[in-house]
Amino acid sequence: MSRPVSPGLTASALISDIAKSLASAGIEGARTEAEVIVKAVCGVTAEDLIARPEVALTPDEHARAMGLASRRTRREPLPYLLGRAEFYSLPFLVSPASIVPRPETEILAEAAIERAPRTAAKIGADVGTGCGVLASVLARHLCGLRVVATDISSEALMLARENARRHRVADRVLSVRCDLLAAVTGALDFVVANLPYVRSRDIDQLQPEIRDFEPRGALDGGADGLCVIRRLSVQLFDHVATGGFAALEVGAGQADEVANLLGRGGLRSIEVVPDYSGIDRVVIGWRRG
Ligand SMILES: C[S@@+](CC[C@H](N)C(=O)[O-])C[C@H]1O[C@@H](n2cnc3c(N)ncnc32)[C@H](O)[C@@H]1O
Repeated sequence: MSRPVSPGLTASALISDIAKSLASAGIEGARTEAEVIVKAVCGVTAEDLIARPEVALTPDEHARAMGLASRRTRREPLPYLLGRAEFYSLPFLVSPASIVPRPETEILAEAAIERAPRTAAKIGADVGTGCGVLASVLARHLCGLRVVATDISSEALMLARENARRHRVADRVLSVRCDLLAAVTGALDFVVANLPYVRSRDIDQLQPEIRDFEPRGALDGGADGLCVIRRLSVQLFDHVATGGFAALEVGAGQADEVANLLGRGGLRSIEVVPDYSGIDRVVIGWRRG
């Protein structure tokens, strides 16, 4: 990078200023976030910052970084400010049309990748695809997989399509606007779903980043949090091929009830997979012959 070194608007001074304002807004990891904002706006790499902390910024870069910092102090999620998030070590476009992908959803991706058939041609569904992280990651990792990615939000589906294109799997990810699996015909080798599972009355208690910025339709699982999952569980048997499975992400304390729902829906050999915090996070049921 060929930037002048100047005592004026330096990256390190700006990072310190932004870190202070983020910390006073109650944001944990304020320094790291400040570095991310400055690096993103100025195109400075981590190496540049370490080697030349006094690297000068243009007034425009300074203003843009301050603008993002100000939005962040109002608790807008950092990935929305940057327009991107990482999932399963891949970069994804994100926007307020969909939730910010969560690390725990990687458990669901991994569970599906481990269990998917190794046959050359297979077809899966990602129900409630949002920005399409599961559909794209599964298509990238499972050779020959075609995925139907459904969502009720057309804005989310536009993101999912763009993400599939960027990850060069658009020819194997078919995004469809519909309720759950309503528009999907034919037997699926597997279904993955990270559907809304927060109880309606708990949404006001969530952190502001989620409560005030993520789409309510992506979070609100109704009175007991399981209204959408319950509707899906009665559809699965008819959509999953014999020998196939459905894997659902659930909230803390919901795994037993969702296991019962899958069992009542005709799925067998129920498995529960914990996340890295030890919370039962993914419930899997198989359609046996
Ligand atoms: C918790 S977000 C998950 C998004 C993405 N799969 C992920 O893991 O990051 C839930 C998604 O389900 C969608 N959704 C909610 N109800 C739905 C329904 N009845 N049918 C299809 N999608 C639905 C929402 O629009 C939202 O995009």
